[in-house]
Amino acid sequence: MKPIKVGLLGLGTVGTGVVRIVEGHQADLLSQTGSPIEIASILVQDKSKNRNISVSPDKLTENPWDIVENPEIDVVVEVMGGIELSKELMLACLEKGKHIVTANKDLMALHGPEILAKAAEKGCDVFYEASVAGGIPIIRTLIEGFSSDRITKIMGIVNGTTNYILTKMSQEGAAYADVLKEAQQLGYAESDPTSDVEGFDAARKMTILGTLGFHANVALGDVEVKGISNVTKEDITYGKRLGYEVKLLGIAERQDDHISISVQPTMVKKSHPLASVNGVFNAVYVYGEAVGETMFYGPGAGEMPTATSVVADLVAVVRNMNLGINGRRGFKPYKEKKLKTDEQIASKNFILLHVADKAGVLAQITQVFAQYDVSLESVLQHPNASNPNAEIIIITHDASKASINKVLKQFESLDVVHEIKSVYRVEG
Ligand code: NAP
Ligand code: HSE
Repeated sequence: MKPIKVGLLGLGTVGTGVVRIVEGHQADLLSQTGSPIEIASILVQDKSKNRNISVSPDKLTENPWDIVENPEIDVVVEVMGGIELSKELMLACLEKGKHIVTANKDLMALHGPEILAKAAEKGCDVFYEASVAGGIPIIRTLIEGFSSDRITKIMGIVNGTTNYILTKMSQEGAAYADVLKEAQQLGYAESDPTSDVEGFDAARKMTILGTLGFHANVALGDVEVKGISNVTKEDITYGKRLGYEVKLLGIAERQDDHISISVQPTMVKKSHPLASVNGVFNAVYVYGEAVGETMFYGPGAGEMPTATSVVADLVAVVRNMNLGINGRRGFKPYKEKKLKTDEQIASKNFILLHVADKAGVLAQITQVFAQYDVSLESVLQHPNASNPNAEIIIITHDASKASINKVLKQFESLDVVHEIKSVYRVEG
């Protein structure tokens, strides 16, 4: 039986897992697809590098065009990362009728529409399950499982590195920099971890989820992004005391055809299932008008979980090849994108202030909230022996982002407010 030949672009964390699964599960893959699958050629930067997997040296190449130009290769699995070269190679592969599987969220978030259009033109598959939430099959779930429903909210812990860091800070009081180093050693972090800690990786994933969930072409620039580099142990401790865990949440919401998408550190009520998603685990909470609440949980990064999704896509491509139906997945955004204004974005908020410790301060502060029609759920004054300021934590009821911004601006000009220490969205 003629094997399906695969070109693998990259033999790092994910590529190594792909080779392990394809080689280790040959009999199962054959039974499921009807074809043997062979990794015929592998692109690396440096052939002489020591690797923790043994592959035949004559399969390795440092020239990507050896794979693109090889007429025997049917499917290209892109797990090298980066944007410009990957895009060029992918478009060239599609031009030659090769199907693509990729784990590259950066590329799909920025150039997904162009790549998918080229794939449709050429009758090719482009599958990218591993690009969001590693081992959780959330892309297939949104495209197929929820095709009958209207999704109104997606909240995701979609970056394993930051969840690992926040978990260790919360549970062990660990220092941010130490845990980041650990996450890098474990292969969770991107080559430039700024992309993880500043929320850009999560933003790219939310661009993909928002597009799939709301059937509109969400662009990366539509996502408001804030990372975790300013989250302090103090914030985590106060949050815990009040019944919250700090999580980097991607939040995509739809109301009357208007959408908003953001990534930000968020105080999540401990009773909400997202609050107990710890370590490198990811979870995506999806609310559909008909189905109600659902949540998908699993490992969000790492060699074998990510490779599981990549090889599942490979199986889908090979099945389609055998049925002659490639290029027909049929997901096409059909709704006009309308973004919410700051007046339309509403949430509860956690605000920590350092204020003068004297009579009448609380009245001045609550007066500002009242002026902008922001109603308060709770106000807590905390004594702090090491701090001459009084610490006040305010939890608001749902308030528009525009009103909260006006309140904060007014605080900046109030003498009694010495510092706005932190502001978090609250969920759950
Ligand atoms: P990685 O460990 O850095 O591996 C990248 C591989 O690609 C290496 O084998 C490298 O070759 C090769 N490569 C990179 N640039 C190249 C170039 N210009 N020419 C030739 N070869 C090149 O990366 P990774 O963690 O496996 O991630 C791969 C992709 O999967 C990325 O898009 C990432 O965002 C995505 N992803 C990763 C995870 C995860 O948990 N790591 C999870 C989901 C998605 P050398 O080995 O010779 O250096
Ligand atoms: N750096 C990413 C993360 C890898 O930590 O989630 C998975 O996409």
